[in-house]
Amino acid sequence: MKEEIQTLRQKALEEIPICKNLKELESLRIKFLGRKSKLSFLLSQIGQLSKEQRPVIGNLLNQSKKEIEKQIAVKKEALLIVKQKKSKIKREIDVTLPGRPVEVGAKHPLFQVWEEIEDIFISLGFEIAEGPEIETEYYNFDALNTPEWHPARNLSDTFYLKNGMLLRTETSPVQIRVMEKYKPPIRIIAPGRCYRNDKPDASHSPVFHQFEALVVDVGITFADLKGTLDSFVKRLFGDKTHSRFRPHFFPFTEPSAEIDILCINCNGKGCKLCKNTGWLEMGGAGMVDPKVLEEVNYDSEKYTGFAFGLGIDRITMLKYGISDIRILFRNDLRFLEQFV
Ligand code: PHE
Repeated sequence: MKEEIQTLRQKALEEIPICKNLKELESLRIKFLGRKSKLSFLLSQIGQLSKEQRPVIGNLLNQSKKEIEKQIAVKKEALLIVKQKKSKIKREIDVTLPGRPVEVGAKHPLFQVWEEIEDIFISLGFEIAEGPEIETEYYNFDALNTPEWHPARNLSDTFYLKNGMLLRTETSPVQIRVMEKYKPPIRIIAPGRCYRNDKPDASHSPVFHQFEALVVDVGITFADLKGTLDSFVKRLFGDKTHSRFRPHFFPFTEPSAEIDILCINCNGKGCKLCKNTGWLEMGGAGMVDPKVLEEVNYDSEKYTGFAFGLGIDRITMLKYGISDIRILFRNDLRFLEQFV
C-alpha cells in the first residue's frame, strides 16, 4: 500500500506542473483528490488496517494529499498570471495601425450666422439679450402698442396656448423686457426663435428666427438707425451693398420703415434672386414710438431710440444661396454636411 501511495504521489507531482490550462488543472484535481479518486478510496480503507499500520499509512496519505493540494494551488496561481498577461497583450494598442478618423460635427448654418451677427453687434458695442418664446399677450402685443383689433392678433396669425399665453410672433417683446429691467442707455440685440401660423412653403415656416436691435439714449436719431444698419449689412455681405428704407407701419415704431438691401447677387442690376427689383427685403425698422417708452416708464421727452428686426433665416438663405427655407429645418445630412 505504501508503494501504491508513493506512485500516486509521484504521478500527481509530475502531471500537475506540466498541465497547460486551468481546465486541465481542474480535471487533474478531480482525478487525484476528487471523491472517486484513488486517494479518497485509500483513505476510506484505513479502518481496515492493522493497529500498527494505521498511523503510518494514515500519515503518509494525509501528507501526500496536502502536497498535491499545494502543488495544485501553486500551479493555479501561475496559470492565472499567464492568463492575465495574455488578455493584456490582446488589448495593447498597435501603434503601427493608421488612426481611426474622428467624425467632426459642426454648428447648424443658421447658428453659424446667428453667432456671426452677434459678433458684429458686440464689436459695435451692443449686448446680447434674450426673452422667452412663450409670451403673454401683454409683452407680445399690448406693451408694443398693438391694438386689440390688429390683424396680427388673429388666431390665423398667432399660435395661442390654452392657458392664454402665446408663442411669440416676433422678437420685439424682448424690447419691453429689457427696458423694464434697465435704464438707458440701452444698446442690445435679441436673437431668437419666433412662431407664426403660416403654411410652410419655400419662403415661410411656422418656426423662424429673428433678431431684434434696440438702442435708447438721449439724442438717438434716424441717422443712427441708418448708420448702424448700413455698417451691419456691409460687415455681413460686403462693402458693395447698402440699405434703403421704404415707408411702412409698425405699431411700436414711428416713423416706421421696411428695410431693403442692395441685391448681393447683382448689385442692383436686377436678377432672379431680387425678382428684377435690384433690392432684397430684409425686415422692419423705425424710431421707438413714445407710447412704448412711456409704457416702461421712460421719459419720452428725454429719450429717443430706434429698433429694427431682421430675419436670421432670410440672412442665412441669402448668404448661402438657399432657395427654400424648409431645408433649414429638415436635418438632411446631405445639406448639413456642406457647412462643416
Ligand atoms: N417685429 C417686426 C416684424 O417682425 C420687425 C420690427 C422690429 C419692426 C423692430 C420695427 C422695429 O415684422
